[in-house]
Amino acid sequence: MSSKIVIVTGASAGIGAATAIRLAKEFSGIVLVARRESELQTTAKAVTWAGAEALVIATDLRQPEAADLVVRETVKAFGRIDAVVNIAGAVPQIHLFDMTDEQWNDGAEMKLHGARRLTIKAWPYLKEAKGSVIFTSGSSAQEPKPAFAAVATINAAIVAVAKAFAEQGIIDSVQVNSVLPGPVMSNRRVGFLQKWSDANTMTVEEAKTKFLEDAGIERYGKPEEIAELMAFLLSPGARWLTGAALRMDGGEIKGL
Ligand SMILES: NC(=O)c1ccc[n+]([C@@H]2O[C@H](COP(=O)([O-])OP(=O)(O)OC[C@H]3O[C@@H](n4cnc5c(N)ncnc54)[C@H](OP(=O)(O)O)[C@@H]3O)[C@@H](O)[C@H]2O)c1
Repeated sequence: MSSKIVIVTGASAGIGAATAIRLAKEFSGIVLVARRESELQTTAKAVTWAGAEALVIATDLRQPEAADLVVRETVKAFGRIDAVVNIAGAVPQIHLFDMTDEQWNDGAEMKLHGARRLTIKAWPYLKEAKGSVIFTSGSSAQEPKPAFAAVATINAAIVAVAKAFAEQGIIDSVQVNSVLPGPVMSNRRVGFLQKWSDANTMTVEEAKTKFLEDAGIERYGKPEEIAELMAFLLSPGARWLTGAALRMDGGEIKGL
């Protein structure tokens, strides 16, 4: 295994935890970032078991100083950064007419600016390592709806900022892409389905089935499936793939 180091945000749950564990096959050090330390420690055990060294950094990515902390601690522990995988996200799914300015700003502060700041702080190390960055957007970026307008808008902004980083990356030898997952069964998805079932006076099980029917897909995705796409993007065979926005959604978005 090469002695390469990757930072994975959102590593305490769902897609982020699955990605951190999957990347332990190719990276020697995995830096796990999120707020909940005990959940990060659970991921760290799985990463260690999978054969890589884990470093846990419990921090709130809404805080501007978090990016500095993550990069400083990573470099102190491992001396280099080969990849940053921005997965952390918690934009509330609230109707366009009900969402406050505070909720909009909080969602953007975390998912968009948290990822942007971390990527900028890590950039000199990524440049040195000829490394890679992945941003996590979502299929909602391509089909915004009133029920989740902020999620869709912030996801679309993430695709745009990833594209801007990718352009700079052509000059600096840093590969940058964004991934757009469709409906993946994680805690976030369960919370959404619970809310949706309450609003539509149905059980969560009924909501699960109805959502799939409405989305026109056969099943929910698994966090491990998105993790495979992340691993592919960071593999040597995908190196010429840059500036792309890759959707993995079971066929949910029907347009081109
Ligand atoms: N699941 C889906 O269907 C789906 C679809 C499209 C896009 N996505 C995107 O995929 C990403 C992962 O989603 P998921 O479904 O795996 O969600 P999840 O299970 O809720 O995980 C979200 C992760 O983000 C971290 N996080 C939230 N707020 C944070 C903060 N302020 N600072 C640092 N970390 C924070 C959480 O950790 P802590 O709570 O410990 O901080 C957790 O590790 C998100 O960006 C989401 O928008 C998901």
